[in-house]
Amino acid sequence: MKIDIVTLFPELFNDFLNTSIISKAQQRNLVEIQVTDLRDYSKRNHKQVDDTPYGGGVGMLLDFPSIYDCIEDLKTEKSKVILMSPQGKLFNQETANTLAVEKHIILIAGHYEGFDARIEEIIDEEISIGDYVLTGGEIPAMVITDAVTRLIPGVIMEASVKEDSLYEGILKYPQYTKPYEYKGYKVPDVLLSGHHANIEKWRKKMAIEVTMKKRPDLLKKNKD
Ligand SMILES: C[S@@+](CC[C@H](N)C(=O)[O-])C[C@H]1O[C@@H](n2cnc3c(N)ncnc32)[C@H](O)[C@@H]1O
Repeated sequence: MKIDIVTLFPELFNDFLNTSIISKAQQRNLVEIQVTDLRDYSKRNHKQVDDTPYGGGVGMLLDFPSIYDCIEDLKTEKSKVILMSPQGKLFNQETANTLAVEKHIILIAGHYEGFDARIEEIIDEEISIGDYVLTGGEIPAMVITDAVTRLIPGVIMEASVKEDSLYEGILKYPQYTKPYEYKGYKVPDVLLSGHHANIEKWRKKMAIEVTMKKRPDLLKKNKD
């Protein structure tokens, strides 16, 4: 899979792309992640890519020619072009699962006041990572890249991905590690019993209980 990220601030991605699982996934050629500086497509002096809005108003908009030429350059017939936007569909695990089977996604990170609205005619989807406004689309692009990359086969153990919270619409069961007891706080005995069937039964029951307690909306959604 290939992920292209278009941004005015490529340097923000340095640590993100060179750390932990995302870095290893690239080294192992499971994913190719490329960051493109939108300013490379500027037609104006000083690599400027923003301008004032027609009709007046505050802030600067990223112009259409730079973004158009950049996307034309990056895209193939297999690409899905996605705009980071607080106006988009809310990102969730289901969307991450869907994107993880794409061959090529292009994530466009905005900044300042946003984009010339003609961008909507050349994208496939608009995604928001939550109902709040960030200063730029770089963090949303990292969120999507991370959530999608960990789902690519081979990046992390498949069993681990499938047991994660939300993968199957509920939260994960509680987990514990050593020591067995600390200041009177103990690990549930069933986990030390060595009885795999009982452990499995307990985990399934706890996953439902945890979901009921923390995210009852998920159980309701599964029922509908
Ligand atoms: C300050 S915001 C612009 C908001 C725009 N003026 C509006 O009211 O819709 C700048 C950029 O940050 C990104 N952004 C901000 N909040 C976001 C969110 N919740 N999800 C995804 N992208 C977001 C988008 O790329 C956006 O173009």
